[in-house]
Amino acid sequence: MNYKPIIARVVKQLENFNNCGEVADYISELRLVDPHKFGIHLTTIKNKQYSFGDAHEKFSIQSIAKVLSLVLAFKLENNHLWKRVGVEPSGTSFNSLAQLELDGGIPRNPLINSGAIVICDVLISHLKNPKKDFIEFVRKVSGIETIDYCPRIAESEKLTGYRNTALVNLMKAYNNIHNDIDEIMDFYFNLCSIEMTCQELSQTFLFLANHGICPATQEKIISKSKSKRINAIMQSCGFYDEAGEFAFKVGLPGKSGVGGGIVAIYPHKYSIAVWSPKLNKKGNSTKGVQFLELFTTETQTSIF
Ligand code: DON
Repeated sequence: MNYKPIIARVVKQLENFNNCGEVADYISELRLVDPHKFGIHLTTIKNKQYSFGDAHEKFSIQSIAKVLSLVLAFKLENNHLWKRVGVEPSGTSFNSLAQLELDGGIPRNPLINSGAIVICDVLISHLKNPKKDFIEFVRKVSGIETIDYCPRIAESEKLTGYRNTALVNLMKAYNNIHNDIDEIMDFYFNLCSIEMTCQELSQTFLFLANHGICPATQEKIISKSKSKRINAIMQSCGFYDEAGEFAFKVGLPGKSGVGGGIVAIYPHKYSIAVWSPKLNKKGNSTKGVQFLELFTTETQTSIF
């Protein structure tokens, strides 16, 4: 399929779209981003590339990185991982504390903040030099050597990370945290600070559209079965308390971040990344969700 005219058509349909919402402002560095940025990039598993707008500008991928840390932790721990974190949708906001208390310190899933913090703890237990080893893993998966953390964003987030600090302490009280809290939080904030362009993001996630194998290098990142499970978790938990709505409207496994990015996978065919910084009330990109809804409808590429 030639996606180029379809992307152009959908972008045109969005010309008068009321892009309401706000740029995430609880992290002061994110407040500085131009709210009108709009980028799209689709990469097929046969390496066809389709770009629009600000697709080659770096942005903070934020929670999208939680999928990559989950992939590495699942690879290292296999099914033991699920003793520490669940696989159920949360139905609550990404930084909710209430549910964690009710569930005895076991996060509902690895893509909400509490779950991602446990995953950081797991990785610290396994990796010699967690920040360095993790970014090298991301570079290997993406095939892009220049992908990196943004220290400015990580520091900025540390200044306002009170809820995340509360989450890690609550889990420590329930014996679900094993390493030093400061080290875990430093790793977590750095994880969230990774920057990529839409092009890099869609390329990085392509292995999940291809049974866990990077199409460009044929390198196996994870097994077919694990790749299926990561996609299932993205489908049910990738958009916090809007996961149902995203499945309803777009119908693809994916993940959002408060930087305004969304990545979504159409198994066996493509990975698509969209970036538009204004967020709806649930913390997902308003225009990004709308674009993907129209795009999967036009191309009939929903998994349902
Ligand atoms: O923990 C936080 O608040 C952020 N660094 C990550 C949040 C995020 O992207 C949640 N997303 N939609």
